[in-house]
Amino acid sequence: MTDFILVIDEGTTSTRAMLFRADGTIAGTAQRPLTQHYPEPGHVEHDAAEIWNSSLAVAREMVATAGGAEAIAAIGITNQRETVVAWDRSTGRPFGTALVWQDRRTADRCKALVTAGLEPMIQQRTGLLLDPYFSATKMEWMLVNRPDVLAAGERLAFGTIDCWLMWNLTGGTTHATDASNASRTMLMALDAKGWDPQLCEQFGIDAGSLPEIVDCLGQIGETDPSLFGRSIPICGMAGDQQAATIGQGCLDAGHTKATFGTGAFVLTNSGMEPLHSSHRLLSTVLFQEEGRRSYALEGSVFVAGSLMQWLRDSANLLVSAPESEALAASVPDNGGVYMVPALSGLGAPHWRPEARGLIKGISFATTRAHLVRAALEAQAHQIHDLMKAFEADGVRWERLRIDGGMVANNWLAQDLADILDLEVERPSMVETTALGAAMLAAVGAGIHPNLPAAAGAMDSEVTCFEPRMPSAERERRLAGWSDALSRV
Ligand code: G3P
Repeated sequence: MTDFILVIDEGTTSTRAMLFRADGTIAGTAQRPLTQHYPEPGHVEHDAAEIWNSSLAVAREMVATAGGAEAIAAIGITNQRETVVAWDRSTGRPFGTALVWQDRRTADRCKALVTAGLEPMIQQRTGLLLDPYFSATKMEWMLVNRPDVLAAGERLAFGTIDCWLMWNLTGGTTHATDASNASRTMLMALDAKGWDPQLCEQFGIDAGSLPEIVDCLGQIGETDPSLFGRSIPICGMAGDQQAATIGQGCLDAGHTKATFGTGAFVLTNSGMEPLHSSHRLLSTVLFQEEGRRSYALEGSVFVAGSLMQWLRDSANLLVSAPESEALAASVPDNGGVYMVPALSGLGAPHWRPEARGLIKGISFATTRAHLVRAALEAQAHQIHDLMKAFEADGVRWERLRIDGGMVANNWLAQDLADILDLEVERPSMVETTALGAAMLAAVGAGIHPNLPAAAGAMDSEVTCFEPRMPSAERERRLAGWSDALSRV
């Protein structure tokens, strides 16, 4: 009996495995936190061996829950994007830490490339902007600063996290990345099948060290039989934001979702042609099936759930993230306090890697509740900035589908509807990233005939939040936000 789909969701702060049934219901979840390393301000690293060991451990837990590998029809992989691992093909051992998408160490390098006039060419070709967020300058940094990476020659393998998991799951036999993850490296042209020779040369990267670019669904790989008792086909693979877009059923052009995880990422499906932004948004591959690509327009905000984590763990203003809902509601307004959560720079549409966070307007009347409310309000403000950029690019959101851990907070969901002046929809199953990977794997394994059929069979009920804030209040909030932003 092959009943289940096993999803490995390797995120920025935790590694999860989830067991799905063909109707989208969840049969089990296992999770482990991922250690964050901050060796210097602006540097963010992960231990790639920890990522693999945790992924294997949680996957094994789910295989046991399923009653053995024979009960699992397919595996779907989804992952934090852009983060780079370099490893030795002959031993499988990583060369040092993984450089995480939030890492800003290549900010000066990116600035120099902008000054050299390279950004228009890079944006035209890859849909991306010259920011340390993307993988290419991280790989270049490793080659320049880690002697063992350069010395490895043909033994060097580079990959994003999907690729690192695929390599390990297949016992070191498959060095492959899917097109959605490849589109975040800055080394692949949006409409090209393989790596871009000119971009590889620009960043000093030998294309031989890069993985093969494959579809997001189909028979992508087979696990090493020694890992789970017998081999399991790997049938789905996509970056976490693309997976969440699919999991939200945003399968037609114009459909838009926002996921509030570590950061907040808004993607609008733009159909079979990439939509090139003139307002500092990103064009990206949504998924690739039988070599054909669907695209999305993306706004990436770097700090969302991580702000709540910082409030809880570093600033000691929260006991738990869910406490923020009652605290925000306990005061009538923000008391004039605004927070700009640029803790690791500002992403879209501002792209200011050097920016740092700011709290404006504190007085003796300011309480913990005002500060927490300001942190939650900052989420709607950031998404509002994105909405304006999308509109300027000619993309008007009809409604916004939201997901991710943070949106269990009803106050936040209502504030989003109010500030965006837009209907906001929240599915009862907010694990849409994992669901999207399960949908890809289910179609890839032939359980559902195509993605629309999978979306129909696996979707959940939605709760709607209607805007109800008077426009004068909305304008006051947005004016306070733009004043705070101008001081960053
Ligand atoms: O691009 C970075 C993104 O993939 C991280 O996602 O879920 O870890 O916030 P998450």
